[in-house]
Amino acid sequence: MNPISAPFGTTLDGAAAQLFTLTNAHGLQASITDYGGTVTSLLVPDRHGVLADVVLGFDSVAGYQSPAYLRSGPYFGALIGRYGNRIRGGRFELNGKVYTLATNNGPNHLHGGLKGFDKVIWKAEPGTSADGATLKLTYQSPDGEEGYPGTLRVTVVYTLTADNALRIDYTATTDRPTPVNLTNHSYFNLGPGPDILAHELTLRADRYTVVGDTLIPTGELRPVAGTPFDFTTPHAIGERIAQVEGGYDHNWVLTGGTEGAATVYEPVSGRVMDVFTDQPGVQCYTGNFLDGTLTGQGGRVYGKHAGFCLETQHFPDSPNQPGFPSTILQPGEVLRSTTSYQFRVR
Ligand code: BGC
Repeated sequence: MNPISAPFGTTLDGAAAQLFTLTNAHGLQASITDYGGTVTSLLVPDRHGVLADVVLGFDSVAGYQSPAYLRSGPYFGALIGRYGNRIRGGRFELNGKVYTLATNNGPNHLHGGLKGFDKVIWKAEPGTSADGATLKLTYQSPDGEEGYPGTLRVTVVYTLTADNALRIDYTATTDRPTPVNLTNHSYFNLGPGPDILAHELTLRADRYTVVGDTLIPTGELRPVAGTPFDFTTPHAIGERIAQVEGGYDHNWVLTGGTEGAATVYEPVSGRVMDVFTDQPGVQCYTGNFLDGTLTGQGGRVYGKHAGFCLETQHFPDSPNQPGFPSTILQPGEVLRSTTSYQFRVR
């Protein structure tokens, strides 16, 4: 049977979480729980065909609910909604009305609030499509949840494809205008090392959104040329990271095109990950806040820079930034978006 399903433990609210494992003909294996629609493990071969887990995660739901995890809020592998990244001051104005959201990151709203899409149980339906094994997840976010207007119906389909991609198809509809910015928060480490500083990153992005001191965009889209943000040609993540205060935690403005948004190469294992998306931006976050207090699958200690995220998305704080592409979903519209993380070796 593909996918297979197994119990994943009981949530703090007393709900039974399930884990679904999708496999393809090349032996890739993606495990995803209905708790937060979280990718908990992703087995991918290296250049010798040896499988290893390339994402940060835990082997039961308890790991995602430990006091240390909830305090630090890394969002390992989770689906993020209603709004990926920050909204300034937890407020925005829409059609003349001010909406107040939970502030869960200093003065700001982050990743959907106190109980975002990462902390709810999604309805899960395992299946198969022409492209491979699938897991369809649905969640209905009630009007007013975390302060957002309108009932939002969200469907996310994970597909593990025959050509070695974990594809994520997002769909959403609403009954009132509301901001939506859905993403996945997987942390990748493609190699055997404890950190990702030697991974070579290419980002097909010629500008990034400049941020102020609480990581809220100023509105400026600044060219990356001549800065440590220039990954238009491959650079080791660690090469210039010391020049960026705190490490990389920024949104790049994607140039678009068929080559994909990003490519990451890990020299020891030979694994390569290509990221394809229809989204205008990607948050590249290099695990700057990980500090070794969490231990994941296989006893791995997650220290600083243990993983990197490439969260494909609209730009942070778009509801307050008239110059950014709009994130407002209208009744009658269907939001559709696709991102895939595809693997090969070199
Ligand atoms: C944010 C970081 C945050 C991390 C984990 C990223 O998307 O940009 O600032 O620490 O998520 O919550």
